[in-house]
Amino acid sequence: MNKLQVIVVSSGSPEAFEVNLVRDGLQALGGTLPQPDLAQGGGFTGKSGQTLVALSDGSNRVALFVGLGENLDREAFRLAGAAAVRALAKDVTVAAVNAGGVDPDLIAAFAEGAVLGHYRYDALRGKGFDASSLPQLAHLQLVVTATSQMFGPVNRAVLVANATCFARDLINEPAATMTPTRFAEIAQSVSEANGISCRVWDKAEIESEALGGLLAVSRGSVEEPRMVKMSYRPEGVKGEAVVALVGKGITFDSGGLSLKSGDGMMTMKTDMSGAAAVLATFSVIAGLGIAVAVDGYMALTENMPSGSATKPGDVFVARNGKSVEVLNTDAEGRLVLADALSLAHEDGAAEIIDLATLTGACVVALGREIAGVMGNDPSVINGVLQAGEEAGEPLWQLPLPDRYKKHIESEVADMKNIGAPGAAGTISAALLLKEFVGETPWAHLDIAGPSRSESDDRYFRKGATGFGVRTLCKYLEAKSQ
Ligand code: BES
Ligand code: ZN
Ligand code: ZN
Repeated sequence: MNKLQVIVVSSGSPEAFEVNLVRDGLQALGGTLPQPDLAQGGGFTGKSGQTLVALSDGSNRVALFVGLGENLDREAFRLAGAAAVRALAKDVTVAAVNAGGVDPDLIAAFAEGAVLGHYRYDALRGKGFDASSLPQLAHLQLVVTATSQMFGPVNRAVLVANATCFARDLINEPAATMTPTRFAEIAQSVSEANGISCRVWDKAEIESEALGGLLAVSRGSVEEPRMVKMSYRPEGVKGEAVVALVGKGITFDSGGLSLKSGDGMMTMKTDMSGAAAVLATFSVIAGLGIAVAVDGYMALTENMPSGSATKPGDVFVARNGKSVEVLNTDAEGRLVLADALSLAHEDGAAEIIDLATLTGACVVALGREIAGVMGNDPSVINGVLQAGEEAGEPLWQLPLPDRYKKHIESEVADMKNIGAPGAAGTISAALLLKEFVGETPWAHLDIAGPSRSESDDRYFRKGATGFGVRTLCKYLEAKSQ
């Protein structure tokens, strides 16, 4: 990941390049700015995300005009930030945003969009690939009035956006190298760098600790599973009420013996997006000065078919003693989460939030841009919805009615791992998870849709979006107050 450095400076610094944010089209461009040539302006109307490069007469100033559209909200500024960094030429290393008098939160949103939009995953390009031939800013200067008020929000936005890009890197890396073992090693080094304690269960401990769901899923793979627990205990905060974050970490989901189609498994290296969001949140938790105790549980394994794989009809016993009949080995996320949620519950978490690329049904219900939220506690659910709204990550609550528990009744075990065919697949998955949190207040985020973007859209690149990091950070920040 090439990091974009964002610097806040006071207004008045002379800059070669200026980004101007335009709301109502060309007529709104004011006196002191270099005027764009209207003929050049073409279709520029100031619509959200539109850009126009304009040269000024006589002086050597160049301006990039970025449309904001009609709603001057945080999302408009995020989109403008992304559009600006993508439109700027490679040899421009400094951009000034003319942002006098604008709300610090909106300037922070611009910086966030710039960092997110700047992201590319180039780690695996060949030697012939010249990254410097692509437009990519190294520095962005935000020229603002009231620098002292801007610094905090902009700094925070850049930290969170960089953490989101870190999650994207983890997710975009192929499954061949982003194995459970490697993910756990990265979790350990992130922990060391941030004064966080980290415990990793290897295969032998997963067996001796009776993490039956994680074992059942990992049985078909030559890669060993891992369970990672990270614990953040900020100084001066009595660590009684712990927020537990739980992530699904299937580093590759082939479906197991209930094998996916070729097309269906093409993007399944991203099936650890929930765990990546949790780890990335921990990478920035100290930097944000979060003042609540937080534990993270990441259940990591591949889901592969082989002679030793779990077979449809097999039954395992999860960490909390409940038995689960596996009728479809492709419904594996809920099995590894069963153990991770059991651990969080057992450790006495005050509340639990899990994130998982859990069901294709959620993509059908809510599409690629909205995550589903379910749970057993309105205050955690509402807190998550509110955090997502402020962070710019759309979430929508789905019901979790006990009446559908019949969908997961098994002939032979306490429950089965699939619901009724073609009916409420996202809900039946969440109802299974609910069996493992006890009475602990809990919210479950099904991020199967928004964890991946299918194009270079908005401030995303085709590939991992890092969905969830911004929501989790907002949620924890709200708790810290
Ligand atoms: N990882 C998938 C869900 C998924 C699908 C994530 C598409 C992202 C995009 C999950 O493990 C899965 O395969 N679920 C099955 C469950 C079914 C067998 C009950 C599904 O959704 O088809
Ligand atoms: Zn699956
Ligand atoms: Zn999966």
